[in-house]
Amino acid sequence: MTSASLASITRNPLRAAVDVAPIDPKVTSFHARMPAYSPTMLFDVPELAAQLGVGRLLVKAETRRMGLPSFKILGASWATYRALCEHLGYEPEPWRNINELAANLEHLKPFKLATATDGNHGRAVAFMARLLGFSCHVFVPRGMVEARIQAIRSEGALVTVVDGTYDEAVARSAHEASDRCLVVSDTSWEGYETTPARVIEGYSTIFHEIDDAIDASGLQRPDVVVIPMGVGAFMAAGVSHYRSDDTGSGGTVIVGVEPLDANCVQASATAGHITQVPGPHNSIMVGLNCGMPSLTAWPRLSKGIDWFASVDDEAACQAMRDLAAVGIVSGETGAAGLAGFEALIRDPEFRAGIDLESTTVLVVVTEGATDPEHYEHVVGRGHETIGRVITAVRG
Ligand SMILES: Cc1ncc(COP(=O)(O)O)c(C=O)c1O
Repeated sequence: MTSASLASITRNPLRAAVDVAPIDPKVTSFHARMPAYSPTMLFDVPELAAQLGVGRLLVKAETRRMGLPSFKILGASWATYRALCEHLGYEPEPWRNINELAANLEHLKPFKLATATDGNHGRAVAFMARLLGFSCHVFVPRGMVEARIQAIRSEGALVTVVDGTYDEAVARSAHEASDRCLVVSDTSWEGYETTPARVIEGYSTIFHEIDDAIDASGLQRPDVVVIPMGVGAFMAAGVSHYRSDDTGSGGTVIVGVEPLDANCVQASATAGHITQVPGPHNSIMVGLNCGMPSLTAWPRLSKGIDWFASVDDEAACQAMRDLAAVGIVSGETGAAGLAGFEALIRDPEFRAGIDLESTTVLVVVTEGATDPEHYEHVVGRGHETIGRVITAVRG
């Protein structure tokens, strides 16, 4: 842990009662039919808890999910499925597994999925397209690391590098929509809100898994939940989960973490309305390099979050090393949550309002080593050598 890095910590001035719509109950059973589905690990990490001075630290590790190195497949799969149902005008039931679903969709071919990504969502959509026997076109921003482009190509997708930011890649992908192509974006804009809302819904599975693991092991539900934010879709799922009976104050403390130069949710909350943070966004936390919050997510982000923590790349690197030391492999974006919490507890106002020693904190680590070369550079050893010193595991 280091205190040399830069951070911006603010309390959310827009915090208010959140109106949370119920989640489609079919989400969980849909995921259960996906290949290799099983709940990801929830780790209880006493060494890190002691270093941070908190009562308990729980880490939900989305480092391996259905064979992919991030949580994004949960949103991409459900949103693709619902978009296909809407395209067909009916649900392509019955199906027990993805091969049967693909067979029920055979008549649509040739068919394509398109999306924009700064890495993980695009790979997840490409993975889904491959499973269904569709083609896929993924638009990525300029400067994306070759390892991440290759990972998307490895799913059989065509990758186009757009000469611009993530937001420009999103705009480009929107032009692909046609009778034979569904755009499956995790962010939303005016007139395109249904699919991004399904992406958010898909992420709800993570929070149900966390509750189940905590309840099964007799632990206490978290007092503080820390979630990294790009366009805020994942955070919107967290807000929906933890603010279901919200009164506008109290309850679980929700913390959103962003890179300092792409902190569009923090900047929007400070401005009092949705605001663009202009690029270039060059953080190594590439999944969070977004200049504009998702329109669909914004009402939940603006009212549901308690604290914002924006951190620099050095903080993310330190968090990667801290996680590696307890046997958890996290990529740069994945480690942002821990980096944000480490910054937050140095803030005098935050500290004054909480008894850290009796607090249970949940940090979601949202990806594994998606750039293995850089991982080794930061941590000092390859990701495949980590994981032998893992501590207590629950769930
Ligand atoms: C690993 C990882 N964590 C967190 C996020 C942030 O998710 P969202 O853009 O929904 O806020 C992303 C987005 O790409 C990601 O790839």
